[in-house]
Amino acid sequence: MGYRVVVAGATGNVGREMLNILAEREFPADEIAVVASARSTGNQVEYGETGRMLTIKNIEHFDPTGWDMALFAIGSDATAIHAPRFAAAGCTVIDNSSLYRMDPDVPLIVPEVNPEAIHSYTRKNIIANPNCSTAQMVVALKPLHDAATIKRVVVATYQSVSGAGKAGMDELFEQSRNIFVGDQAEARKFTKQIAFNVIPHIDKFLEDGSTKEEWKMVVETKKILDPKIKVTATCVRVPVFVGHSEAINIEFEHEISAAKAKSILREAPGIMLVDKHEDGGYVTPVECVGEYATFVSRVREDSTVDNGLSLWCVSDNLRKGAALNAVQIAELLGRRYLKKAA
Ligand SMILES: NC(=O)c1ccc[n+]([C@@H]2O[C@H](COP(=O)([O-])OP(=O)(O)OC[C@H]3O[C@@H](n4cnc5c(N)ncnc54)[C@H](OP(=O)(O)O)[C@@H]3O)[C@@H](O)[C@H]2O)c1
Repeated sequence: MGYRVVVAGATGNVGREMLNILAEREFPADEIAVVASARSTGNQVEYGETGRMLTIKNIEHFDPTGWDMALFAIGSDATAIHAPRFAAAGCTVIDNSSLYRMDPDVPLIVPEVNPEAIHSYTRKNIIANPNCSTAQMVVALKPLHDAATIKRVVVATYQSVSGAGKAGMDELFEQSRNIFVGDQAEARKFTKQIAFNVIPHIDKFLEDGSTKEEWKMVVETKKILDPKIKVTATCVRVPVFVGHSEAINIEFEHEISAAKAKSILREAPGIMLVDKHEDGGYVTPVECVGEYATFVSRVREDSTVDNGLSLWCVSDNLRKGAALNAVQIAELLGRRYLKKAA
């Protein structure tokens, strides 16, 4: 017997990718319900590329009683209304929004990094998925931290527009087209023109001049990997449709050479090392689309600090940054706690 699974936000960027990944990985689901807002009630979405069409129900009227788990990708406001309702009905919520990530009673999980932390999910029957930029970074940092103990991380991100949902992708497409035909490139979703430009601002500003996206990378890395690691981030939106990139500089407690780091990363779960010192011997965002791996390239020693390394990290933000990580959590939950499927 398999699970009864709800995908909430199934019409969105992350929700559609969750359906693709559940189907691709042959998740043991006996039944799948797809829910979203009243706007899309009655619309149909495909379960991966199976040809099986599912009809969207309005989450407002959906009774989660008897459903095993719900993968949420509906934003924080709607999550605040519906996640407690689903969890109280016995349906474990795996949430992609930022709402519960820093709640001490909710585990924040990246299965390659801190699978053991999942045990505390019973406190609220909710499990949080990290921010997309944090997820790929901690996958790359974990094996290096185990080997040489990370003290400090300086990261600059190059984040694709799909991280801002369907509306972000539409805006890049429309602005690019308008600029080519000589029309105005009106900014609606983003704060400035994103086509042929970069914007050093994601999410709202905080009192200290950093942004909430940058703060998320700091606090989520501490919660998932190690509270002792210091992180400073600059998060930048770039005109790429899918795939987040990060330039990461790491300072370690103990000595670690680039060669040693590469041999560790080559064996690490969830990582694909592509690092040749030749033209094209590295991964760029367009190549990571649709992939499961977090790609690491350009690993090199940084001689300006003791025990320093720099590297380049790229991943599909809709997959490892959201939908894939959520499905991996669902698999972990099933294996460790629900134990229904064979
Ligand atoms: N994109 C990423 O890289 C990424 C990474 C990590 C986490 N996340 C998080 O995942 C969530 C979804 O992001 P996304 O990129 O998929 O956004 P999106 O493409 O804009 O999709 C939003 C989804 O939420 C649904 N929704 C919105 N308001 C709702 C409501 N009141 N009740 C029920 N459903 C509602 C929408 O349904 P309708 O079609 O009916 O409007 C749609 O299915 C967000 O919390 C986001 O922060 C995204």
